[in-house]
Order: sequence, then structure tokens, then C-alpha cells
Amino acid sequence: MEPLTYRPRRNRRNPAIRSLVRENVLQASDFYWPVFVTDGEEQHIPIASMPGVFRLSVDELIKDAREAHALGINALALFPVIAEVLKDPVATESKNPHGLLPTAIRALKEALPDLLIVTDVAMDPYSSDGHDGVVSNGQIINDETLPILADMAVAQADAGADIVAPSDMMDGRIGYIREALDNAGYSNVGILAYSAKYASAFYGPFRDALDSAPKHGDKKTYQMDPCNAREALLEVALDVAEGADMIMVKPGMPYLDVIYAVRENTDLPVAAYQVSGEYAMIQAAAQNGWLDKDKCMMESLMAFKRAGADMILTYFAVEAARKLKEGWVW
Ligand code: PBG
Repeated sequence: MEPLTYRPRRNRRNPAIRSLVRENVLQASDFYWPVFVTDGEEQHIPIASMPGVFRLSVDELIKDAREAHALGINALALFPVIAEVLKDPVATESKNPHGLLPTAIRALKEALPDLLIVTDVAMDPYSSDGHDGVVSNGQIINDETLPILADMAVAQADAGADIVAPSDMMDGRIGYIREALDNAGYSNVGILAYSAKYASAFYGPFRDALDSAPKHGDKKTYQMDPCNAREALLEVALDVAEGADMIMVKPGMPYLDVIYAVRENTDLPVAAYQVSGEYAMIQAAAQNGWLDKDKCMMESLMAFKRAGADMILTYFAVEAARKLKEGWVW
């Protein structure tokens, strides 16, 4: 047999060579951690479809946030569980300065001033319709929703949020929110735009966690069609033009092609959201003994870096940061 010219295996011969030629790295500072906040004290309420994830009262959240921060996680995404009685068609509770979310932000900022707080801007946790916009005759009304989102974002900034993350998919909301923040004196508060957010079935467990599923209809008139990729670039271009500081693609693993395309088309930082259903799939398979949880967790997170994401929003953040600290071997 002729000697082989190319032997790619030479670069994989041992761990030292593999570490030398490795193209991507994963570090705790790549992660930001989504958490569910609930009323009360000493609350640590499990979520059936998300093993290992809890609805935390503010006191418990501070303890967990301290641990996460010590592991090198620099940002938290907060999602409040709003009592059903406080929900209404126009999400009034979302601008209550004494509401659960502003209270949690202030407490976290006092305990851990360097930990970045990212807040979701969307009506659904506060809406009696469970939609991200105002509903009228079964339609989601875009332009009537914008001032509500702007008020929500300003209320979050008032409480101390560092970055607001509109996840509602209304048209024109990035520019509208930017202007409102600037007018309120918050030109330093950044906007992480959920630009390419798909109408995905992988959000199911999240909606269990917040009791925020739509009461009627679905989200297909505002969230993107899973069949489309080019359309994501249009959404990104608009959000960039309107003043976004960072771009998000969501869900994550089923949309790695979109992350890659967005990476190629913008120089802004790109975030990937490994959503609740992605988390649930790995946990469920691991609980059955069908998959190795730690290995699948790390491999799934690395996939986002390889696709071009700069940051990863993941429910695995703390566990993965712990593995990295222990010295994860690829
Ligand atoms: C709210 C929002 C959702 C998620 C993040 N923000 C749900 C939805 O749009 O229905 C989903 C996150 C997850 O599944 O982990 N607008």
C-alpha cells in the first residue's frame, strides 16, 4: 500500500495534541443562567418537567446566585412567577416598582453588585391571556404592545437591571425600548434582542414553570416559523438597525444552522438559548440511564460555541461551571 499523505488521526493521537489543536473552549463566563423567582421565603419548589431546576424565593435565589458567581458565572436571567390574581390583559403588574421582579433585582444587586442582571421583556408572565402582546378579538396587536414593553423595560432598569432582553417578537420593539430607556436616563442599559425566536414546542417546560402558557391560540403570528432560516437574518438586521447591543437565537440545539448564519452576518455578540425542552430531554434520557448526563451536557454546550455563539443561556450553567472548575477533560 502507498504511504498515506494525510493522516488526520496524527492530530488526535493523545490528550496533549488534542488540547493543542482544539478550536473552541468552554468557560463559565460564557454562560448566563436563567432562574425562576417566586414569592415567599425559603421556597425551593421543584418543576416536574425540569428536574434540578427550582422556583426560588428571593432569599434562596441570593444563596444560589452567590454560588454561581463564585463559579465564574457573571450573569443571571430572571423570570418571575406571577400570581394568577395579578395578571390582566395589559400586564399592569410588569410596571409595579414593588413587584416580585424589581424586588428580586434590588436584592440581588445589593448582595452581588458585580453580577449582571438580565431581564426578560415580554407580557406573557403578567398577561391573563398568556400572550406576549395585547390581545384584541383573538389578534395580537403589535403597536399597542410597544408602550407596555417600554414601561416594563424602564421599570426593570429603575430596579437595577443591567441588560433588558425583549423576547416578545413584536415588530419595532427594539427601537421603541431603546428610545424609552434613553429618555429615562438609562443610556447605559443594554438590549439583548431575542431576534430569531421561533414558535417552538421546546418551550413547554418553561411555560409549566411560570404557568404562562397561552390561554388560547398559539404564538405563530409573532414568533418565527421553524421552517425559515433566511428570515432570521431579516429580524437580526432590523434589531441591529434599531439599536440592539447583542443578538439571541432561540431555541439552541435545533437551530445551530441559524446561530451559524447569524454569526456570519453580524459583528454583534451572539447569544444562544438552550431552552427548557432541550434541558428536559437531556435530563430525562439521563434519568432513564440512556445518556451520560455530564457528557451530553458539555457536548451540547460546546456545540453552541462551535456554531459561533459568544454566550450561552442554559439551565445547566451552574452544573457545567462546576464540571469546568473540576477540570473537565474533553
Ligand atoms: C417569554 C419567554 C419564553 C421563554 C423565554 N421567554 C416562552 C415563550 O415565548 O413562550 C422560553 C424559555 C425556555 O423554554 O427555556 N416570552
